Amino acid sequence: MQVCITEKELKEYIAAAKKAGKSIGFVPTMGALHKGHISLIEESKKQCKFTVCSVFVNPNQFNDKKDLERYPRQPEKDTELLKKAGCDLLFMPTEKDIYPKPYTRKFSFGKLDQVLEGKHRPGHFNGVAQVVSRLFELVEPDKAFFGLKDYQQLLVIKDLVKQLKLKIEIVGCAILRDEENLALSSRNALLTEEEYDEATFIPIWMDEVKKLSTRYKASQIKARIETLVAQRDKMKLDYFEICDAETLESIKNFEDAENGSVALIAVHVGKIRLIDNVIL
Ligand code: PAJ
Repeated sequence: MQVCITEKELKEYIAAAKKAGKSIGFVPTMGALHKGHISLIEESKKQCKFTVCSVFVNPNQFNDKKDLERYPRQPEKDTELLKKAGCDLLFMPTEKDIYPKPYTRKFSFGKLDQVLEGKHRPGHFNGVAQVVSRLFELVEPDKAFFGLKDYQQLLVIKDLVKQLKLKIEIVGCAILRDEENLALSSRNALLTEEEYDEATFIPIWMDEVKKLSTRYKASQIKARIETLVAQRDKMKLDYFEICDAETLESIKNFEDAENGSVALIAVHVGKIRLIDNVIL
């Protein structure tokens, strides 16, 4: 695996791969890699001849400074994991490489980034769009791989590619979960043992949502989950919503969802904020 930091090196490696007729698959990450990230690398390797992974903790998408400071960083371990996974090129830029000048471009995604994560983390998706558009400009991949774990992010990125008229196929990949069914996340490493046990209620609730969705109205399920979370002392609910799977408009009745529906949750367990979702 080749490793590079600067735009110049990156472009040389990519140009060589393209010259050799290789299709480029790209997996952007913020590091602290786990099996969920590695599953994206594996999908890219299945679909493309040359896989590029970026590791960059993007300050522009953190609206909470403490969250940014707390974000786990483990560059050596990440490099080893990517090597093992058979990644071809690791791009580990510094902030100056990504943003040589302050990046102030403002994106608009209509309602898509005003709800859920967008509502609770103002400016978050603008920061994501800034870094991903910049990374796309640098890597120029044929395909880019994103996890369904960050469901709203995936929709925002699909919209971004449309807006910028980029010829990049966005591939959504299934959520990887641990043995307790908790969705893998770099933030899980920050949970105490007790908090971890609490967090395992999240996938239990999401399973229940799936079961209830065949018998109850969306509004009834929402009320049920809100009650269940309120009973847990160490948890604070940011949101639980059942939404149209494409527009993310929240729905009261499943018949109102024209594009199918998805249930999404964000909860604080102690100081750690976790998200999960299930397609219904
Ligand atoms: P990060 O949180 O590191 O996630 C990188 C990619 O891994 C995202 O596409 C995310 O959805 C995916 N992922 C995370 N956990 C997963 C899991 N359990 N199963 C499957 N895929 C999972 O998302 C970001 O970074 C950033 O916002 C980024 C797009 C890199 C822009 O900075």
